[in-house]
Amino acid sequence: MIVQKNVSLKPYNTFGLDVNAGFLAIVDSADDLDEIYQTGRFRSQKKMVLGGGSNILFTHGFTGIVAKNEIRGVSIQKESSDDVLVAVGAGEDWHQFVLWSVERGYGGIENLSLIPGTVGAAPMQNIGAYGVELKEVFHSLEAYEIKSGKTVTFFREDCHFDYRFSVFKGELKDQFVITKVFFLLSKNPTFNITYGAIEETLEQMEEKPSLKSISQAVINIRQSKLPDPYDIGNAGSFFKNPIIEKLHFEALEAQFPNIKGYLVGDDEVKVPAGWLIENAGWKGYREGDIGVHDKQALVLVNHGMGRGKDIYRLSNEIRRSIEGKFGIELQREVNVI
Ligand code: EPU
Repeated sequence: MIVQKNVSLKPYNTFGLDVNAGFLAIVDSADDLDEIYQTGRFRSQKKMVLGGGSNILFTHGFTGIVAKNEIRGVSIQKESSDDVLVAVGAGEDWHQFVLWSVERGYGGIENLSLIPGTVGAAPMQNIGAYGVELKEVFHSLEAYEIKSGKTVTFFREDCHFDYRFSVFKGELKDQFVITKVFFLLSKNPTFNITYGAIEETLEQMEEKPSLKSISQAVINIRQSKLPDPYDIGNAGSFFKNPIIEKLHFEALEAQFPNIKGYLVGDDEVKVPAGWLIENAGWKGYREGDIGVHDKQALVLVNHGMGRGKDIYRLSNEIRRSIEGKFGIELQREVNVI
């Protein structure tokens, strides 16, 4: 296992924040995890696991050891005329796996094209976009139990998936390292183009729905709205879309007739945080090198030399302002260190 001392994490977080790790270990097997967690070698060090670094805000450096998950491999486990069970190493790049599936005609994750990050991080927060969530194609996962060093299998119902949530963010937080994820993909996929922008984009592209065209439409939409971390540091949506009581939403609608919301169940409404932040005047806001993206107000950005603690402070200012104007408490989606 390669372990480097005192390393900048700038290339390892999509905000592009220049903070240091005491140690950086490149992990590509359960044996490497054993070396970190079970042998005495790093006993006195704090430890954290990093995937693609695309959902994390470092407000300071990390004095302990950062384990970069690079466990690889994509293999078909089982196949029938209808579907295919694929096992994917947690360190594989999510979008490359989507392209691999689309290329072979395996459907279910085409709407999740171009989401930054690794395969192992995907179930962690049940990634979702354009009307599809990871849990719909999730079969099971293998995870390394930090305490015992054993590999444990989790099936869908064990993961307690919810909107941007799983048990690994809740009661099992910091207890497991996801090492392998199993997906059940369809050979006769039904396309999900209900999310308005996909249908429109396919029309503009003059393409009929197919795995490839839907994937490309999603790529086009994302590229038009979301900043590419290679150009402008960011971690995608910084906040979750809040779910509020219907009565609260109706009161807001009377005051702000253009407000958007989607019914969740019978008496709750999910409100796009991007709309709230834009309508509180923050879209395109810039202060030095940090700010709010000018095409999607839900995305906080680092234009170059920004600092994590300033982004964190800005996120608190935004939260206060949304609370004051709309009486809604925004929850962060990114993990803050
Ligand atoms: N909106 C605004 N102003 C903005 C941004 C959005 O008014 O600055 C409005 C849009 O007009 C639209 C609504 O908000 O009516 C929803 O916008 P959009 O379709 O861009 O999606 P979102 O709700 O802002 C969510 C996910 C994204 C995902 C998209 C597409 C969350 C927190 N975010 O964003 O996920 O790509 O839907 O499905 O649920 C991420 O998690 O990092 C992420 C990018």
